[in-house]
Amino acid sequence: MENETKEVLSPNKGLLQSPELYQYILESSVYPNEPEPLKELRAVTASHPRALMGTAPDAGQMMSMLLQLVNAKKTIEIGVFTGYSLLRTALTIPDDGKIIAGDLNLDTYEIGLPIIKKAGVEHKINFIQSEAFPVLNKLLETSNNEGSFDFAYVDADKINYHNYHERLLKLLKVGGLVVYDNTLWGGSVAMPEDHVAEKWRTNRHWIIEFNKLLASDSRIQICLAPLGDGMTICKRLI
Ligand SMILES: C[S@@+](CC[C@H](N)C(=O)[O-])C[C@H]1O[C@@H](n2cnc3c(N)ncnc32)[C@H](O)[C@@H]1O
Repeated sequence: MENETKEVLSPNKGLLQSPELYQYILESSVYPNEPEPLKELRAVTASHPRALMGTAPDAGQMMSMLLQLVNAKKTIEIGVFTGYSLLRTALTIPDDGKIIAGDLNLDTYEIGLPIIKKAGVEHKINFIQSEAFPVLNKLLETSNNEGSFDFAYVDADKINYHNYHERLLKLLKVGGLVVYDNTLWGGSVAMPEDHVAEKWRTNRHWIIEFNKLLASDSRIQICLAPLGDGMTICKRLI
């Protein structure tokens, strides 16, 4: 039928069967062990018009576990916003650990900064107000950085994930991890394109292409974890 009206779907960040199930996970597993400064940071971020951009608390919980599993000390973060994932990392890595954190926007980082300072972990963070490319390129130009990072987290600028990937694989140690957020893009990756609202389509396209690229990259082992908005964990193999 030519004039059939298509249902336009607006993907949600939550990917589980029901909001109640997600709430159950948060209340039974995540919130009981979430450090106080992270609760405070979530509360401060909640009133921000773009609060939904913050890394989901369940995804943050997994990040802590991954950081501990690889004994991460030297890490990179692309996309800081108010700093939930950054503070997660800073609270998890050892006292002499270091995070290179890049974001275009200083104002949003400054929303979370007082909480980061109060938590006593600011000394682990080197925040750089910048596009991601110059940050990664500069790291690659500096001696001793190639093959030296334990962990990277990418949560900005989906269109360039594939470009960041090439640089990050050079910076990571063999055995190191890079985690990409939003790799299910609100579930839209599995919806027919013409059923997806226009504003979601560009990133949906790039995320689908990126997921294909990761699946065919023999330099890494991957796991697409369906929590938060989809997080792909990649381990550098060679
Ligand atoms: C989804 S938010 C990051 C959320 C953060 N990980 C958290 O837990 O709250 C994305 C951030 O990436 C930043 N950003 C967007 N494009 C960027 C780019 N090309 N280079 C660096 N940062 C960028 C935005 O300013 C925004 O703060």
